[in-house]
Amino acid sequence: MEYVPGLEKVPAAESAISFIDGHQGILEYRGIRIEALAENSTYEEVTYLLLHGELPTREQLETFTTRIRQARALPPALRDLICTFPRDAHPMAALQTAVSAMGMLMERGRIHDAKVREQQAIEFIARIPVIVAAAHRCRAGEEIIDPDPSLDRATDFLRMLTGETPDAFTAHVMNVSLILHADHTMNASTFATRVTASTESEPAAAVAAAVGSLSGPLHGGANERVLRMLEEIGSPEKVGPWLQEKLARHEKIMGMGHRVYKTKDPRAKILQKLAVELFERRGSSPLFEIAVELEKQAAEPLGSRGIYPNVDFYSGIVYNRMGIPTDVFTPIFAAGRIAGWMAHWIEQMSANRLFRPTQIYTGPHDVPYVPIDRRTPEVSAT
Ligand code: COA
Repeated sequence: MEYVPGLEKVPAAESAISFIDGHQGILEYRGIRIEALAENSTYEEVTYLLLHGELPTREQLETFTTRIRQARALPPALRDLICTFPRDAHPMAALQTAVSAMGMLMERGRIHDAKVREQQAIEFIARIPVIVAAAHRCRAGEEIIDPDPSLDRATDFLRMLTGETPDAFTAHVMNVSLILHADHTMNASTFATRVTASTESEPAAAVAAAVGSLSGPLHGGANERVLRMLEEIGSPEKVGPWLQEKLARHEKIMGMGHRVYKTKDPRAKILQKLAVELFERRGSSPLFEIAVELEKQAAEPLGSRGIYPNVDFYSGIVYNRMGIPTDVFTPIFAAGRIAGWMAHWIEQMSANRLFRPTQIYTGPHDVPYVPIDRRTPEVSAT
């Protein structure tokens, strides 16, 4: 048996949901290139694609969109609970707690019924943005804004979060961002979803595990760290010395590198292009100029090792320009990825086998039991 740290290149499932070619920088959902989906689709249509395997007809999309929009409203008990969270709690902790609580309010024991599974998936997909917005407004001491079923997901999410209905271009940027984050093969949070689901637990347990896994800085939490890093650098002129110092200390540059991509992440390219357009309309941001300079200067020392910007490198700058607080960036990632998590939950449950890998034991055997009054620090340390 060979141990592979981080299970690199070890297949953990057979899946028909998404595909990455990390050398050519290709990402597909159900065989369709991410560029085509980002340009032409809505998040609702992409969600249908991920859950059902093919693009919907106009009629199917209409029915599906109506179902998602009608499922947005939070149960009153959940709304009340969200407002009891500590105001300084991180929004990802709030989201994870609210997802667990949502599970307490859902019908249990129906995971083997495909129709119930689809309805439960829709409820999680519909409500994550509503929970994120409600938790943010409560901690800010502001009234929760209820969802508006006449609005698309991106528009309504921004409206519930900021209190203002966004202009069409800003809503378009959020729509694309949610699409770009919707699925990404066997990443840590998707793996967490499938492992948790494989025990036949309720879907809330799988989503809560996924949210917890997404929160770390090596995964979704990177977008928040990128913005703090750019703020710390301060100006494009300071990029060179800052980068040299980081590299000399063998520290990681947030928003760069990926286990699978050895070229620039196609999602980062799309977001960078949108960022340029957003800044043309709304005025440039020094943070964007720092990011562009950092990418340029990192090309030689890191690009030569296959370390390029990933999706998190430009997403935070875009959210920052939309006036979204930095610690809400990772919850936005979750609001996109929930479609992928639910597609993987459904796929896992349709051909489930309990995840139970093995390990390579490295500890001792036949260690004698020493009674407590005869233990010395050296003995108990062995
Ligand atoms: N900046 C500088 N060096 C980096 C790097 C980065 N962003 N990412 C990886 N490396 C280096 C590591 O220091 C290590 O160097 P070494 O071999 O000299 O020790 C080598 O590349 C391998 O690192 P490892 O973390 O094992 O690679 P991985 O393939 O598992 O990396 C990530 C994937 C995402 C964990 C990693 O690139 C990273 O931590 N990036 C920053 C966080 C981030 O942006 N996460 C979001 C991912 S979408």
